[in-house]
Amino acid sequence: MSNGAPLLEPPFATVSWSADGRALRLLDQRVLPGVEQYLETRHVHDTVEAIRSLAVRGAPAIGVAAALGLVVALEHVLEHELEPEHALLHSAARGELRGLAALLDASRPTAVNLRWALQRMLRVSESLSDDALMRGLRAEATRILEEDRAMCLAIGEAGASFITEGSGVLTHCNAGALATAGIGTALAPMYVAHARGVTFHVFADETRPLLQGARLTSWELQRAGIPVTVQPDGAAASLLRSGVVQAVFVGADRIAANGDVANKVGTYPLALAARAHGVPFYVCAPYSTFDANTATGDDIEIEHRHRDEIALAGERIVLPTHVPVNNPAFDVTPRELITHYITERGVLSPPFHI
Ligand code: MRU
Repeated sequence: MSNGAPLLEPPFATVSWSADGRALRLLDQRVLPGVEQYLETRHVHDTVEAIRSLAVRGAPAIGVAAALGLVVALEHVLEHELEPEHALLHSAARGELRGLAALLDASRPTAVNLRWALQRMLRVSESLSDDALMRGLRAEATRILEEDRAMCLAIGEAGASFITEGSGVLTHCNAGALATAGIGTALAPMYVAHARGVTFHVFADETRPLLQGARLTSWELQRAGIPVTVQPDGAAASLLRSGVVQAVFVGADRIAANGDVANKVGTYPLALAARAHGVPFYVCAPYSTFDANTATGDDIEIEHRHRDEIALAGERIVLPTHVPVNNPAFDVTPRELITHYITERGVLSPPFHI
């Protein structure tokens, strides 16, 4: 780090190769904070299910998981599912690769990092000779993993100075180490500021309905010794009005070419409240989250999730039968409400070219 403090390591391995390298290893976020357990997947359907059910979640983490998951799934197919004579056929392996990538790509629609990572893997496969295919794909997936760690640190370095001594900062959802292979995006400036000895207090929105803020953000910040208070999402506007919060940091699932940002549902009202009360609103994201192929926020596909996420509180039914729900997982914050984008290449302000 720039001030001579030790390099910040990710506090746990959210997404990695298994010890023998044959599987994708994930810290299972469905059972945090009560249980800290890992799961390993090889078969593509298990990896798709892990992404869909949010065992691994957060835009950069699902991109990394898809890259590693693609490699282990292809190896699994070559070992178990193709006839031995076909397994030797490189054209069969390339066909399987495309099919597996399409299955992974369909697991969640909004975070562009998933597609970005898979397209990068397919592009690299085209430049590899048949003999080098498997080795080259594994090397590329490892590079995606390592680059993710480096970009988190760079985002942290770029954003840490926005956290001042004695301040309050507010965040929504989880865009921390649990959402990446490194120290996170929105939480990265907090980890770096903390390592530099700055004292500050984090307010984490609980993030209805799946409680990523309460279950995940508070878990990882408490573990790191960073003071954190969890509040219902509806408390954010009054807190911003009170003057206790000097900056809001959020992550992103996709940033359109014009700067509009898709992130966890509830981000947009937070940005409106921050603007109303003169509090700067920072979006922290790697370049892999900027999508030149999506013109504006209106063009971003928003994932809608299952009714039960709203109808159940744990095992308890909290909604009368047949009452319909509206359960979008993300919303779009227009670029006008964003103060800066904090990236691994520095701090950007709209208009910008990606
Ligand atoms: O549904 P989730 O938990 O995958 O949503 C995650 C978010 O919205 C994060 O803020 C975003 O992916 C950025 S993670 C660095």
